[in-house]
Amino acid sequence: MCGIIARIGGDDGAVDELLTGLENLEYRGYDSAGLAVKNGSGPEVFKRQGEISHLKEVLADEVPDGGLGIGHTRWSTHGPPSDENAHPHTDCSGDVAIVHNGIIENYDELKADLLARGHEFTSDTDTEVIPHLVEESLAEGADPETAFRETLEKLSGSYAVAMITKHDHAVYATRRGSPLVLGVSDGEYFLASDVPAFLDFTDDVIYLDDGDVVEVRPDGHRITTADGEAVERSVQTVEWDPEDAGKGGYDHYMLKEIHEQPAALRQTLRGRADPTTGDIHLEEFPPGTFEDVKRVQFVACGTSYHAGLVGAQFLSDSGVPAQTFLASEYATGQPPVDDETLVVGVTQSGETADTLSALRRANASGAKTLAVTNVVGSTAARECDDALFIRAGPEIGVAATKTFSSQVVSLALLGERLVRDVTGTRSPETRERLDALSDLPGNVQQILDYTSARRIAKRYHDSDAYFFIGRGAVRPVALEGALKFKEISYEHAEGFAAGELKHGPLALVTDRTPVFAVFTGRNDEKTLGNVKEAEARGAPVVAVASDANDEVYQHADEVLTIPETHPDVAGVLANVQLQLVSYHAADLLGRPIDKPRNLAKSVTVE
Ligand code: F6R
Repeated sequence: MCGIIARIGGDDGAVDELLTGLENLEYRGYDSAGLAVKNGSGPEVFKRQGEISHLKEVLADEVPDGGLGIGHTRWSTHGPPSDENAHPHTDCSGDVAIVHNGIIENYDELKADLLARGHEFTSDTDTEVIPHLVEESLAEGADPETAFRETLEKLSGSYAVAMITKHDHAVYATRRGSPLVLGVSDGEYFLASDVPAFLDFTDDVIYLDDGDVVEVRPDGHRITTADGEAVERSVQTVEWDPEDAGKGGYDHYMLKEIHEQPAALRQTLRGRADPTTGDIHLEEFPPGTFEDVKRVQFVACGTSYHAGLVGAQFLSDSGVPAQTFLASEYATGQPPVDDETLVVGVTQSGETADTLSALRRANASGAKTLAVTNVVGSTAARECDDALFIRAGPEIGVAATKTFSSQVVSLALLGERLVRDVTGTRSPETRERLDALSDLPGNVQQILDYTSARRIAKRYHDSDAYFFIGRGAVRPVALEGALKFKEISYEHAEGFAAGELKHGPLALVTDRTPVFAVFTGRNDEKTLGNVKEAEARGAPVVAVASDANDEVYQHADEVLTIPETHPDVAGVLANVQLQLVSYHAADLLGRPIDKPRNLAKSVTVE
């Protein structure tokens, strides 16, 4: 996730404090960094792809004077990581410098118009339209604040923006759907996307409301609403230790990332599905893109493999032949691929060696390849014919959490497009499914607010082993629940198709092996039969189900409740509950949750 920092002071010293702020934002994940300082006349811009140390090297020879500046850590969404795509971005004259978080959804049209009017662009970003629009308003005689407001009126999307110009000694900033906070100190101010960015300098904070526009000068600030009405916002003192603040107040990145899921899912879905019409807008894949596809193969590892299983199940159920392969097994015995085969590599990092190798093999056999990944500019995104970005924001905890949810949702949207292109029809359930997808962020939030996962983890965390079962669309969720549990708790956990329990694993079931059973509202009676088999052997049963299912409640010792939703979407909700159980069990067992032993975030060997 990108990070913004601004320092507004009268004297010199902006660069050092901006660099500290950028380093404090590192935990959000980034692939380039930059800053602009108001130095004498216009803004002077320094930016580099890669680590902040690269930016520091550029500044090493000569730190520019200046008390006011803006800085940014970029996590690519439009255009790969590069010096040119790093922020700040400027207008044609270099008099306006902007940093931006979020997405400008209508940048394509805006950019086309600006190009037609003679503006020159130097990056692939959506951000760069902003300084050029400000430039036009300034040229028509507007003052910087008016030019800023006029520009905001033309933007759609969700964003936070901070701007400096050569015309005055102020920073103008706004937030619309992306966070921005104002830090207040003696004779200086800070703006940042997150409090930890400026905790070294002040712990007095003003939380801006969505739509607020703020003008900040060294001797004062003025906040106005989107309509231009002046408002006062109170100053609050935060009691955070700068050490902990990188995790945004959470004990672990994993817990923070679990809690980021509503926001991540909103980003994944933004602008891509319309439940009222049933239309899918995948900018990269207009209708008809996949007309020639006859079969789909997913290749992936670990958690991403489980997301791939969900993707294939959806396609097969809708009449498109689809299979999912463990990428490391793909080299041997895969069915023939040809130019009518679409091979989809599902990979959060885009760098997993097994997945890259499977994709290269598919490519060499003439298949079309598509990367479904979180990282713009990753090897998978670059090497595949196409890429669909899941937009989950950076994931730092080794255990994949929010990226699984965003992968499943991305594959559901891609699945809808594929079904229409390949079969020429639309599923009668499309609208209900899209409705359920658009309710997901709110439903996940409800789980996060009311979960009893910690209490249940406390009750069972010293058991002998843990089994997870699910049927159909949630068999992958049972597998994922077990993977997450073993990975971070170091306890033995296995996931099975619910119906398979009686074909072997039941021999392991005792009163010291809790069975977590996932229900979706489809074929629940069969899964309930399997639960009864475990119950009869004395196993504690934890059901993950909506409260619509009375019978499940009667047979379960504990229930992790999920809001009622479409059966194809219920798995994402159930998985959030299971993520929380794994997290709390591992926490109670004192495990190093963010860095489990022997595991790495990105596995770059086969
Ligand atoms: C489990 C986990 C791993 C990854 C796997 C693939 O929590 O994170 O199983 O899912 O190593 O990684 P990506 O998705 O980066 O290809």
